[in-house]
Amino acid sequence: MSEKRVLLIVGGGIAAYKTLELTRLLRKAGVGVRPILTQAGAQFVTPLSLSALAEDKVYSELFSLTDEAEMGHIELSRSADLVVVAPATADLMAKAANGLAGDLAATTLLATDKPVLMAPAMNVRMWEHAATRRNLATLKADGVSFVGPDEGAMACGEYGEGRMAEPAAIFDAILGMLEGGPLKGKHVLVTAGPTAEALDPVRVLTNRSSGKQGFAIAGALARLGARVTLVAGPVSQPTPAGVSRVDIESAREMLAACQAALPADAAVCVAAVADWRPDEAYRIKLKKGRDGPPVLTLVENPDILATLAAHTPQRPRVVVGFAAETNDVEKHARAKLTRKGCDWIVANDVTQPGVMGGADNTVMIVSKAGVERWDRAGKDEVAMKIARRIAQDLA
Ligand code: CTP
Repeated sequence: MSEKRVLLIVGGGIAAYKTLELTRLLRKAGVGVRPILTQAGAQFVTPLSLSALAEDKVYSELFSLTDEAEMGHIELSRSADLVVVAPATADLMAKAANGLAGDLAATTLLATDKPVLMAPAMNVRMWEHAATRRNLATLKADGVSFVGPDEGAMACGEYGEGRMAEPAAIFDAILGMLEGGPLKGKHVLVTAGPTAEALDPVRVLTNRSSGKQGFAIAGALARLGARVTLVAGPVSQPTPAGVSRVDIESAREMLAACQAALPADAAVCVAAVADWRPDEAYRIKLKKGRDGPPVLTLVENPDILATLAAHTPQRPRVVVGFAAETNDVEKHARAKLTRKGCDWIVANDVTQPGVMGGADNTVMIVSKAGVERWDRAGKDEVAMKIARRIAQDLA
């Protein structure tokens, strides 16, 4: 990594203090860091701390005589292998999405011909605002990559999505972009979200899966360099950067999409697939009649995980399943491991508060080799650990 360089733009947000730790991690890994500190950023961290940790000069002014004499701002924008914006404030994102060039950070983002990674950090309302949504979509369409934001308690006292990703996660994303990542050249298939089984054209049988954990895993795999196909049921999650997404509704559509995506080096089945579907999907809307409510007959859906694990000749080398349990977690997970023929199972207790649809997860990894219990962590962190474990298995 010693020849790799990052141009690190530090925006004005309380999360800027985490960027100091990120700088330390990068330097420890031998990555060169050249910092640009915005005026607002300098309200949160000092140029001296940043410069000391980066072991380089801090650039701040667009029209600084000394800086321009040393290195023009256009040259500066191309002086690294990757441009990282952390924290990427709403203001910096808006400037970059609209091509503004009123200060050194904005000019750098407009002038650079290098890949750009942003780690957004802002209040949840600002993150959810239609203007930020538009800017995010524009930046993604322009090829900018994103890591985070995470969900959690914020410095402003509110709770929600908008916390900057942890330094270790940003570091992983940077390494993935710099070196291609340990999953470079590998194709990983991920299923996520619920399935919806039609009863008639307007009614479905479905479940409460948010798709959050599956989407986080797809994003983490992509950050480690994998080509990721994400087969997703109906959820409102944004597609992670670098992931190719196939939207489906029913379990049978999910299976067909997975089979069409083969061959894959690994498959991670996170989806909460409906075990049953109505035996008949009515072509026209069922009407209330004199006979009272209809009686539903359910038939079993195909098991996607078991089908992939038993696939010949295209069984992925690593097949990972999930087990959401309410009791006897380890026992049920072991039974599932054998029944479904997968290599390991990520099991969790969904009766724990905040797991279903929430930000955190407490999981255990059950394989033939035994059981590993992981500490409670954010779903993004759990996702990255799972992605790393897959990379190890495929190595
Ligand atoms: N799964 C699947 N296709 C199905 C059902 C489940 O691919 N039709 C996958 C899930 O994505 C998950 C694993 O199988 O990785 C476990 O799913 P779960 O619903 O917990 O297991 P079941 O086989 O349905 O067992 P049970 O309902 O008895 O807990």
